[in-house]
Amino acid sequence: MAAMITLGIETSCDETGIALYHGERGLLAHTLYSQVAMHAEFGGVVPELASRDHVRKLLPLIDQALAEAGVAKHDITGVAYTAGPGLIGALLVGAAVGRSLAWAWGVPAVGVHHMEGHLLAPMLEESAPAFPFVALLVSGGHTQLVAVEGVGRYRILGESLDDAAGEAFDKTAKMLGLGYPGGPVLAALAEQGHPGIYHFPRPMTDRPGLDFSFSGLKTFTLNTWQKSGQSAQDKADIARAFQDAVVETLAIKCRRAMEQTGMKRLVMAGGVSANKGLRERLHALAEQRGWEVFYPRPAFCTDNGAMIAYVGHLRLSAGERQGLEFSARPRWPMESLSARQEETEPTEIG
Ligand code: KG4
Ligand code: ZN
Repeated sequence: MAAMITLGIETSCDETGIALYHGERGLLAHTLYSQVAMHAEFGGVVPELASRDHVRKLLPLIDQALAEAGVAKHDITGVAYTAGPGLIGALLVGAAVGRSLAWAWGVPAVGVHHMEGHLLAPMLEESAPAFPFVALLVSGGHTQLVAVEGVGRYRILGESLDDAAGEAFDKTAKMLGLGYPGGPVLAALAEQGHPGIYHFPRPMTDRPGLDFSFSGLKTFTLNTWQKSGQSAQDKADIARAFQDAVVETLAIKCRRAMEQTGMKRLVMAGGVSANKGLRERLHALAEQRGWEVFYPRPAFCTDNGAMIAYVGHLRLSAGERQGLEFSARPRWPMESLSARQEETEPTEIG
């Protein structure tokens, strides 16, 4: 049988990501278009503009990926698109295009869970983790600790009760007047800050459990900023204190999750796993405890098509098939995924 080549399409938020994954040779090509410049003017993602821009960029990016990989359309054996969670309009663009192309090419299609994409993105790297492992998923929409026994075998150990870690970075950055997207800008400013000048709380670490709450940190940041001298260095020191609080809180909960499960491998994924401070902290912790730690290259921490093509490949290989209808789910609990999912549920819009 000829090798499988899966086209992956990611359009859950403000990045159009395309990739081609080869069953034997791995990733052949990946292309990405970020809408950041367009949304910056509004200080955040404008969903309707996001959907329209995905419409404009999808087909040219697919052509570009095919050209880069030297792959013809008729070589593609399956199409995977992000079916949720995310912005419904943006998701529907990718789902409609993905399902239609698969139909036109006479190949199977599958809807992929965006967070499963993030979760398995470290598998695209040369030093891929073996199962089982604990995953810290930290993105703009989710903060979760997950016990991962295998593909589709996910147990949520804890999650954020309010803001996700990335959302906390973004909101705090906005409050400090750092613009959008806030995470990377705040992280860069934190590098200029001195540690220990300000001390921020580590929310929910004084009680047992693995849930998170980050929404209080932004108010704490604002109050600290207002009471400070409001110099450029004060701002950097406050950014540093904020980042250290998030990082330390995540590290404390990771340690608990590892102890609770007895696992020895820790994986981090999602946009915030690109954060240098977080990587360094978890590395230090892992070294001290004798664990292994894994994460994707920075480009695959944030949204991308490669992770969707990869998960699509796994699910298509396992025989999973999407019917001729397509579906998108703005909310979609990851635990409802199975090791081998049968048909996806019908379209759910809202
Ligand atoms: O995974 P992702 O690209 O999209 C979602 O699925 O949400 O994550 C985006 C989030 C944003 O909140 C962004 O501010 C944050 O990841 N982020 C960072 C860094 N790079 C991206 N947060 C902290 N430090 C970074 N270096
Ligand atoms: Zn994401």
